[in-house]
Amino acid sequence: MDIVGPHVFLYLILLLKTCFCLYEVCDRRPLGTNTDPLPPDNRFLIDVYGIRENMYIPKEEYSVRLFSRDGVSSFIAFTISIREDTTENKNNPRKPILLSPGKLEPLPNSNNTKVLTTCNNTVIQSDITPKTYVEAKWTAPEKDNKCVTVFAVVAVRPDVWYSFEGPLSQRICEDRRKADDMQPMENYNCQVCEDARYKLIFEGMWSYNTHPTMYPPADLVARFSDVVGASHSNDFSPFKYNSDATDGLKLLAEQGNTTNLEVEIYQRLGTDVRTVIKARAPPSTNMKTISTFRASRKHHMVSLATAIVPSPDWFLGVANFELCDAKTHEWANNVIFNLYPMDAGTDSGKKFDSSNEATAPPQPISTAKIDANIPKEQLKPFARLVFQLIRTYYNPNCTEDTTFTDESGGAGDNGEHTDDEGSEEGEVTKKVDYQPSQPTSTTSEEPPSVDPDSSPECPMTPWEEWQECAGECIDNKVNGYQIRFRNHVGDPSPECLKMPLTDMQNCEEECAEEPAEGEEEEEEEEEEE
Ligand SMILES: *[C@@H]1O[C@H](CO)[C@@H](O)[C@H](O)[C@H]1NC(C)=O
Ligand SMILES: *[C@@H]1O[C@H](CO)[C@@H](O)[C@H](O)[C@H]1NC(C)=O
Ligand SMILES: *[C@@H]1O[C@H](CO)[C@@H](O)[C@H](O)[C@H]1NC(C)=O
Ligand SMILES: *[C@@H]1O[C@H](CO)[C@@H](O)[C@H](O)[C@H]1NC(C)=O
Repeated sequence: MDIVGPHVFLYLILLLKTCFCLYEVCDRRPLGTNTDPLPPDNRFLIDVYGIRENMYIPKEEYSVRLFSRDGVSSFIAFTISIREDTTENKNNPRKPILLSPGKLEPLPNSNNTKVLTTCNNTVIQSDITPKTYVEAKWTAPEKDNKCVTVFAVVAVRPDVWYSFEGPLSQRICEDRRKADDMQPMENYNCQVCEDARYKLIFEGMWSYNTHPTMYPPADLVARFSDVVGASHSNDFSPFKYNSDATDGLKLLAEQGNTTNLEVEIYQRLGTDVRTVIKARAPPSTNMKTISTFRASRKHHMVSLATAIVPSPDWFLGVANFELCDAKTHEWANNVIFNLYPMDAGTDSGKKFDSSNEATAPPQPISTAKIDANIPKEQLKPFARLVFQLIRTYYNPNCTEDTTFTDESGGAGDNGEHTDDEGSEEGEVTKKVDYQPSQPTSTTSEEPPSVDPDSSPECPMTPWEEWQECAGECIDNKVNGYQIRFRNHVGDPSPECLKMPLTDMQNCEEECAEEPAEGEEEEEEEEEEE
């Protein structure tokens, strides 16, 4: 170990003292040096241990390491820091919004690193003994914070140092695929003012090709049941992770029968439930099904479940998915959530075709272990949910404006469900002149028009435009089906609730280009200061 002469300490103390006056601002130069840095030197290197393909997983903890490649070259001082990305500020384009870089801090009980208090997320040496390796703890930010840049400066002598260039800087970006596995933070104080209408797309992604060891044997037909759920308040959820399944969920998971779960949800309609959601089962396990629902300040969460058939008691679903963004206090838009199989804890069968074997006592809902040989991080989702904000509804209680006429007489489609028992699969119902689909922006000046063909007892809006054709792309052709929507006008009576709100027909069209998955963030090199 090199001995640092006492004159060096003295020099440093003087240097630190004389510079303290300037330390109000964040200065990341080591030991407050005034000399220029040397050009990049390959001897020293920063890396983030545990990262894969330069992508971080939100909220995960990593170790940021600064070390000399040869294990011999030593440094006496350093600064490790992390810089966030920015995003456009709509209110003030000249002042972009800072995203979060997560948190960088010394390891607990570290004896060679400490926080630099004048800078955010910055760690420096706690003494100037020569070292070849230091480490700090980085907790990655939550999802949707794009990329961060981890960087270091290194001093080999009091005024001989290297700045954060080349190997002393690393840019890492959010792993979007993993981000889609995470539910948004629950918001116990939803402050949105307007109601919202959402389109829910349930997209099956389960087939023998994608899940060869997690698919039923060829002589059995794999399918999903109807997708059943609700938009609801904090006080109710059709099921909860780590809790016992209700009878309704048990019946759904074991037999693919949604009836009892629907009944359980209906019992809360008008209090804790805003919309009972029911989407027809997708035609096959790698196809889509679509529904709509309404959410409000009180009913700002959504829960859904669909059975995996055949299976002992496996299902896909989400509980308490938050739509009222806790950070922005706005309705979330275009959120994606991956679904992996869950076990309702009521049947102990281990295989898709296991015979019934009641679990006594029942176990809490947990992750289903269908193929124990596949590590968790390599599991592919069985389906994903996409929540698209279609429109919001003006709420007179939120503004001074009094000229407003309520678009649907207040309660609106309270009690709506998107059940479509009325229309046969693939049936082409009589042609009606359709109106362009409703605007997605906040408009509510005029009440919705009533379809003259709908009955006076159950006034309905005209059918909206057909949604895109959903199905598998074979030889550049989609041969599938498509859906369109309509809504109740005013308060539907129980009789009217039986009227179908969705309509389906077969379709054939050229395949649309799939948006590339996990879009790469733009790599842009920025240097600090
Ligand atoms: C500092 O910590 C390291 C590892 O925790 C340990 O090996 C070393 O002896 C410690 N040094 C001092 C001076 O306490
Ligand atoms: C430090 O963080 C706070 C809160 O995140 C932020 O307001 C401030 O601008 C940051 N300071 C610097 C120098 O980046
Ligand atoms: C689903 O379960 C309900 C309630 O137990 C029952 O009445 C109904 O017949 C079942 N449906 C099917 C298709 O088995
Ligand atoms: C508006 O406020 C009144 C009185 O507080 C309440 O009765 C009514 O339900 C509110 N309307 C909406 C749409 O929230």
